[in-house]
Amino acid sequence: MADFKHKEIEQLLVRALQAISNSNTILELEDTRVKFIGKNGELTLKQKTIGTLPATERPQFGEEVNKARNAFDSAFQEKTAQLQQQELEAKLNASTVDVTLPGRGMPLGTLHPVTKTRLRLEQIFKSAGFIVASGPEIEDDYHNFEALNIPAHHPARAMQDTFYFADGKLLRTHTSPVQIRVMQSKGAKPPFRLIAPGRVYRCDSDITHTPMFHQIEGLVVDDTTTIANLKATLQNLLQVFFEQPVNIRLRSSYFPFTEPSAEVDMECTACKGSGCRICSNTGWLEILGCGMVHPKVLENCGIDSEKYTGWAFGMGIDRLAMLRYGIPDLRMMFENDLRFLAQF
Ligand code: DAH
Repeated sequence: MADFKHKEIEQLLVRALQAISNSNTILELEDTRVKFIGKNGELTLKQKTIGTLPATERPQFGEEVNKARNAFDSAFQEKTAQLQQQELEAKLNASTVDVTLPGRGMPLGTLHPVTKTRLRLEQIFKSAGFIVASGPEIEDDYHNFEALNIPAHHPARAMQDTFYFADGKLLRTHTSPVQIRVMQSKGAKPPFRLIAPGRVYRCDSDITHTPMFHQIEGLVVDDTTTIANLKATLQNLLQVFFEQPVNIRLRSSYFPFTEPSAEVDMECTACKGSGCRICSNTGWLEILGCGMVHPKVLENCGIDSEKYTGWAFGMGIDRLAMLRYGIPDLRMMFENDLRFLAQF
């Protein structure tokens, strides 16, 4: 330490430097700063006494007070930097990431039961030589109705009320228009063997109907196929799908685009035909609509109906999913409740 003539300044500086070095935190250091060079700090008061001294003593005294003040300042700055560094290191140490801990993992989503059912159906049909086709959900009147032998004002249109756009387009009411789109596509000619899964829309909403639901369409056209092939294919499909022997029956029905037309019932998988809540005590479950492709539909697609025959079917994917998984209410499918979805 430099020489001081004024021992009281020297002693003050010694105490001040000691206090700085004893400060263990930024807060303590701040107290030290206030104590010595704050407005009423000891060193500040010393400086203020200069004016009261005889003129001859002032320069010497002033110089020494300044020297003390400079020594304080540089010690203070050094200590500040040191404490800041220490506190930063302490903070970093406290928040260290332990990279050796096992990860928490990201919960994986699951496929929706309707998606699972669709993929399963696609796989079964592909293994039987069907291709998977698709068409637009916003359809035109021609493909959704006209070409399927449902002219304007035909009563069958009333069964399939849907959502219309200003330009006359509509949300397709069934997947049947994909039949037309494939058969009319450029260069296409029989044989055809396809399925077309997808979303369809109707103005319907209650326990068993939602405005959007899923269908899977099937179409086979060639020069030898018969209604026996239709029945055998459907029975096999259902048996593979439900993984158990399945009885089906064809019940006469009506669709404008098939002749003859049938509704297919499957013996109830829950009660084996004896009657239960699921089948409304009938022992049978209505599964799908089908039939032999109407000659007019084939002709609309430029296919010689004297030479070729075809059969088609359309069924609800949601309904098959409900039966396979035992889901009691169709609306659960579309509420996106994780407690429901996580079960699949
Ligand atoms: N498109 C019909 C519907 O949505 C279902 C259907 C019935 C499709 C018979 C077909 C069929 O291909 O042959 O109600």
